[in-house]
Amino acid sequence: MSKEKPSPTHFGSDNVTGIAPAIMDAIVAANAGGVHGYGEDSLTEAMEKRFAEIFETEVKVMPVGTGSIANGLSLATVTPPWGEVFCHEGAHINVDEANGPEFFTGGAKLHLMPGENGKITAEALRAAATRYPRADVHNPLASTVSITQATEVGTLYAVDEVRAIGAVAKDEGLAFHMDGARFANAVAALGCAPADLTWRAGVDVLSFGATKNGCLAVEGIVLFNPSPERADRLNHLHKRAGQLYSKMRFFSAQLDAYLDDGNWLAWAKNANRQAKRLADGLGGLNSVTLAYPVEGNEVFCRLPRAAYDAVVGAGIGTYPLYGEKDGVGSVRFVCAFNTEDAHVDDLIGAIASAI
Ligand SMILES: Cc1ncc(COP(=O)(O)O)c(C=O)c1O
Repeated sequence: MSKEKPSPTHFGSDNVTGIAPAIMDAIVAANAGGVHGYGEDSLTEAMEKRFAEIFETEVKVMPVGTGSIANGLSLATVTPPWGEVFCHEGAHINVDEANGPEFFTGGAKLHLMPGENGKITAEALRAAATRYPRADVHNPLASTVSITQATEVGTLYAVDEVRAIGAVAKDEGLAFHMDGARFANAVAALGCAPADLTWRAGVDVLSFGATKNGCLAVEGIVLFNPSPERADRLNHLHKRAGQLYSKMRFFSAQLDAYLDDGNWLAWAKNANRQAKRLADGLGGLNSVTLAYPVEGNEVFCRLPRAAYDAVVGAGIGTYPLYGEKDGVGSVRFVCAFNTEDAHVDDLIGAIASAI
């Protein structure tokens, strides 16, 4: 990717943005004085309490620096090296993490499943998870299912769909992982209790995203009602992966401020609202087609090369056009916690001007 100049209006991803002022303030506030390192501080304790309140249950929360390590360590906590992790073929853990899940689990394999709109179904999971006898030492052991919420194509699993997958996981003895890099967008859009979308639906471990929605660099691995063995395993994996930061309080400060006063949901709501505005605006234009239902903060569309060039020409940041054929290609526009009405209007205007 070329080294572009910062663009005031950028739709390439929700991680191209800056940091929400409330997060910056929390980091500055945490800078006063000295406290114990490695998470042995009152801010980390307070942050974990907030998670327990929001999820209405006992949780263990381990802050980490990226979504990829959150996924790798979450999967490694619940999957043996000879295990098999069921996921959508387009899952970030499959296509975007340089085999991190296989590495951190010590060799577990991903079992890729097709599915419309970036989602797997409970029925397909059951068929895949039961194709070998569990007791046979020769086969991969069906161990874990991992779903992404919101999905890689900006769609959402409804609570009932998560529950159905959770029920199969329970029947078949699978652990249930959720890649929630955009979990806030999902909760904000569905308007459900975070608990209903996770542990009450059978989820054991959540990669709780925060970086894409206003934080500097932090995600939480959230283990729900963990057994002492799982908690201990995660402790060791986390340390061994170099994620037990000595200055942990700065990571905890981000998560604490993120959850404070409903910030995480307010920011995600803004991103979702702007994506809907964008989808509505583009939907009314000839020769632009939406590739997937717009349910969170991402808009995937096909548009003419001329329209894409007009966006770039207007100084609006995007990722490259891909899959171009006969002058029409695909692009993803992502809205963020700080996307403004005028940014979306400018984007629609630039595309409209070229059509
Ligand atoms: C669905 C999903 N999961 C995980 C990640 C990983 O995040 P990171 O780039 O911080 O490793 C991303 C980032 O794009 C993502 O979109």
